[in-house]
Amino acid sequence: MKSIASAPAKIILFGEHFVVHGTKAILAAIDKRVTVTTTLTHTGTLKINSELGTLEIPISSSYKEAKSEFRPFIFLANKMINSNQNVNGLEIMIDSDIPIGVGLGSSSACCVAAAASISELFKELSSEEILNLSIEAEKTIFPDTSGADCTICTYGGMIEHPSIEKIDSTFDLNLLIANSMIPHSTKNSVEKVSKFKENNEERFSQLCDLENGLIDEVITAMKNNDATTFGLKMSENQKYLEEIQVSNDTLRDMISSLNEISLGSKITGAGDGGCVIALVKDENMDKAPALLPKDKECFSAKIDTKGVVRSTIEE
Ligand code: PMV
Repeated sequence: MKSIASAPAKIILFGEHFVVHGTKAILAAIDKRVTVTTTLTHTGTLKINSELGTLEIPISSSYKEAKSEFRPFIFLANKMINSNQNVNGLEIMIDSDIPIGVGLGSSSACCVAAAASISELFKELSSEEILNLSIEAEKTIFPDTSGADCTICTYGGMIEHPSIEKIDSTFDLNLLIANSMIPHSTKNSVEKVSKFKENNEERFSQLCDLENGLIDEVITAMKNNDATTFGLKMSENQKYLEEIQVSNDTLRDMISSLNEISLGSKITGAGDGGCVIALVKDENMDKAPALLPKDKECFSAKIDTKGVVRSTIEE
């Protein structure tokens, strides 16, 4: 038997890093996906195939000894196999069009799609159960995760975290994503921000309050169909991210170039590399590539409304 599930990539519109320390955030799922196919086999092994490599290990192996990129899949497989003793082997295939390690939620989308795909072979889970399972799986590589990324990859659309309230934008969000092509480590950036917090407790707490206030203003702006304020708030949020030191010269240059054609722009995700996003007017969309250095990639993103999608295929 074979089970297929897919989950979308994500962007963080507002609140990255501060969300780890308890503030609100606004996230959106975008139209890039990872698909995980899980097949029951009789090999006595767990086989994982992805663009990061192939791994084949005895079915009962622990995730703790594996390379970090394979851990969530082994963790999820172990969990399902432990409650279904008659499983002899599993093969997990990962196909993705989400760039890896650049803040678009590739690992969270993998965790959500894998939780859905593997569990579906044994038991139908609710979206909330898939979300909880995917967060547990993500914690095998990133124990401090806020869970915001897995949440948006599960539910899709645009949401406020942690309330999981859906946000309907009344204006068309013309989002441009530009990839600095500098890979980053979310774990390292989050640790760096925790150090900043330790050394600047009072200011960090002010910044958290400012971030919460900013997010309330963004929600009002969206209700009022006010794209101009939305863009200004993106740039204001970028100042907070600069202050906690997750930006760098490359990202600053990209942001300042994109500001020429946008209502606002900022880092999305952990920073220190990865991607920036800009709210760009329709007529300016084509101008972006010429403004960025040749080694950067950019594309426009549509909001994905579906979230995790499951289908079980009997063989
Ligand atoms: O760059 P990403 O996709 O790994 O984004 C991480 C977002 C953080 O707020 C920095 C961490 C988190 O767990 O929310």
